[in-house]
Amino acid sequence: MSKLTAPRGTFDILPEQASVRADVERTARELLEPAGYGRIETPSFETTELFARGVGEATDIVEKEMYSFDDGGGRSLTLRPEGTAPVCRAYVQHGMHKLPAPVRLYYLSSFFRAERPQLGRYRQFWQLGIEALGSADPAVDAETIVLLATLLGRLRVSGLRLRLGSLGSPDTRAAYGEELASYLRANAERLAPAVRERIERNPLRAFDSDDPGTRAVMAGAPRLLDRLEQDDAEHFAAVCGLLDRVGVAYEIDSTLVRGLDYYTRTLFEFTSDSLGAQSGVAGGGRYDGLVEQLGGPPTPGIGWAAGIERIMLASGEHAPAAAPVDVYVAFEAARADAFETLVAVREAGLSAQMELAGRSLKGQLKQAERLGARFFAVVEPESVLLRDLRAGTEETVDRDALLDRVVTA
Ligand code: HAM
Repeated sequence: MSKLTAPRGTFDILPEQASVRADVERTARELLEPAGYGRIETPSFETTELFARGVGEATDIVEKEMYSFDDGGGRSLTLRPEGTAPVCRAYVQHGMHKLPAPVRLYYLSSFFRAERPQLGRYRQFWQLGIEALGSADPAVDAETIVLLATLLGRLRVSGLRLRLGSLGSPDTRAAYGEELASYLRANAERLAPAVRERIERNPLRAFDSDDPGTRAVMAGAPRLLDRLEQDDAEHFAAVCGLLDRVGVAYEIDSTLVRGLDYYTRTLFEFTSDSLGAQSGVAGGGRYDGLVEQLGGPPTPGIGWAAGIERIMLASGEHAPAAAPVDVYVAFEAARADAFETLVAVREAGLSAQMELAGRSLKGQLKQAERLGARFFAVVEPESVLLRDLRAGTEETVDRDALLDRVVTA
């Protein structure tokens, strides 16, 4: 029979990688919980409408990257491609607007996008994300960005760059969108066909294009940052000022666009030059209209998400050494005595492993050494031959006395 493999763009998380991930999770928890963030986990799938309304019909994600399916009763469900819309859905559903603002939530979950797989880009991937809801204060923007910079620093992600921009309000964006669209129409023959097609629906995405002709046109395009209303410009200046105050370096990028439609005002992205083509490690921004768009009260919000696989790629994280084994329980014939000893040693709070592969006594010793065990205990019905592999000593003790010997060692 032919061998089955995991679907393209997906991967298994094996024990060594799982321990690196556990390290990322612990670092995130230790940073975010003292800052007031509580964990939230939403379901792996939601109604398709949530993403159509939340992420935006004209985005790549909704247009072509969603895994949608019928729930068996004629309703369309979708494997979540991102976490912000689901968290805002949960915020509204559970009446979290009644809680003291800002409500701060974080998640570490897997997401699904039908993208073309390559290094750093998968069809099921993991994100660590945070969302702070209910405050429009520029200090929340700065705080979330500082938390992300701190996290990536603690995780030793190398070659980082922070790009920062502002999209202003939906009205400014709409007026700017028209101005940009007419500029693009005037230069249509120099644009890539895919960009040309999108002029009317999503002209901002033209800044995303890698096509040389399009890039040349975009170099002379009007910039949204120059068109911001006064209060949006002040908000942006305040965010920049707070970041300056605490020494977080950033580059203002007036062409920054991200593939989700809910953003308003502050927008940011961390890239790493050790990542190649998929250089985005983490990104986020403000979404002051999203909660209302999902049927909740007007509620400002801001957040970010960081790709776990990209963090691991950009930090060259290695698995921490496996936990040491205190006692390797060996035996020749006394399996039940050995088993009883194993359970007793573990109950005493030590780590223990028992021979389970039918090795010879010599093979068992080798295995104990491979695991870095402190003690090698050959169990017999009445006694135990106990070898201290670190000290190089050996003694025979009563089975009853074994625990005392190894616990006090
Ligand atoms: P996003 O930029 O689409 O934002 O994704 C955030 C991060 O997830 C990316 O920077 C990247 O590290 C990782 N990522 C995205 N797609 C893939 C993929 N196919 N394979 C591997 N990693 C990937 C969001 O999802 C927003 N919800 C972030 C946000 C939260 N904005 C406000 N709050």
